Amino acid sequence: MKILGTGSVLPKKIVTNEDLSKFLDTSDEWITTRTGIRQRHVISDEYIEDLGAEAALKALEMSGKSLEDIDLFICSNVVNEYITPSLACVISEKIGLKCSCFDINCACPGFLFALDIAETYYRAGRVKNVLIVCADEPTRMCDWSDRSTCVLFGDGAGAVVLGEGDNILATKTHSQPAVDKLWEKRVIEPTPYITKTETNVPLQMKGRDVFKFAVSASTTEVVDLLDSIGMKKDDVSYYVVHQANMRIIDAIKNFLNEPECKFPTNIADHGNSSSASCAILLDECNRKGLFKEGDILVFSAFGAGLLSAAAILRW
Ligand code: UT7
Repeated sequence: MKILGTGSVLPKKIVTNEDLSKFLDTSDEWITTRTGIRQRHVISDEYIEDLGAEAALKALEMSGKSLEDIDLFICSNVVNEYITPSLACVISEKIGLKCSCFDINCACPGFLFALDIAETYYRAGRVKNVLIVCADEPTRMCDWSDRSTCVLFGDGAGAVVLGEGDNILATKTHSQPAVDKLWEKRVIEPTPYITKTETNVPLQMKGRDVFKFAVSASTTEVVDLLDSIGMKKDDVSYYVVHQANMRIIDAIKNFLNEPECKFPTNIADHGNSSSASCAILLDECNRKGLFKEGDILVFSAFGAGLLSAAAILRW
């Protein structure tokens, strides 16, 4: 497939590190040096489905495709106000889309899992044009008195429209199950028959373990995927890496021995917006005109599961 259009939307409320240090035992100095994050956009009176719908319409507008052209809509999301129907259905109704649609919950690498699914449908001859929306509000999952998690996240939505082409050169998804590294539990209504213990638990993360996994999975997958299609690091124009922590991005850059200019980032302004992260970064770079025709983009993302994924595409 080929990316025909991109779009993204952020909540209007901006929360700075200084704002957080007013109610948490933290500081701008700690957050900036340990994560590279200076501020994040946080959901307040908006609904994540509205951000997702707006991002979708922006991507559609850029793509030149109409709603009727879209054969499949994949929505990547971890949590939203509906348990059912899927967020994909909610967004479809909002924008008037009538094609087959479903949600995937693949945490932070969700955009790359969606890209992999879209390309697989396309290669099977079942679709021509696919809409992907990554809409996530991880700030709703955190315990806002837990300084080790809530300072890391921001919310937002990113979208792409994919059409006919041979620009997706390779995709790879990977799972290394380790639930205890990053998880959250919520309890639905009890039934008269529940005898087991169930409790709501906000987002829990073993930060150092996830950090190590992220660097190791990303570097291994990028090298292997490039190798699988006979490409070298010199062929790569840009690495679009999940914006989880600037130190993770720096470690990946150092392991790959690649220059900083190949790693566009927006983590300082947005924090970690889960699966929306890569899609938003892609849209922002695209709208700034960073990518030139023929550029090779390498994507890499990692998160809860533990899941990771990589993709290579020619712009
Ligand atoms: O989206 C994908 C999933 N997530 C990730 O990729 C995140 C991966 N992990 C990370 O980015 C980092 O591990 C963190 C940013 C979460 C933590 O950084 P760290 O350098 O690994 O710090 P740490 O957890 O080892 O904590 C060091 C110290 C601790 O204090 P003590 O025990 O040394 O006294 C923490 O309590 O920093 C303390 N700390 C804080 N201090 C001020 C933790 N959070 C904060 C905070 N402000 N916000």
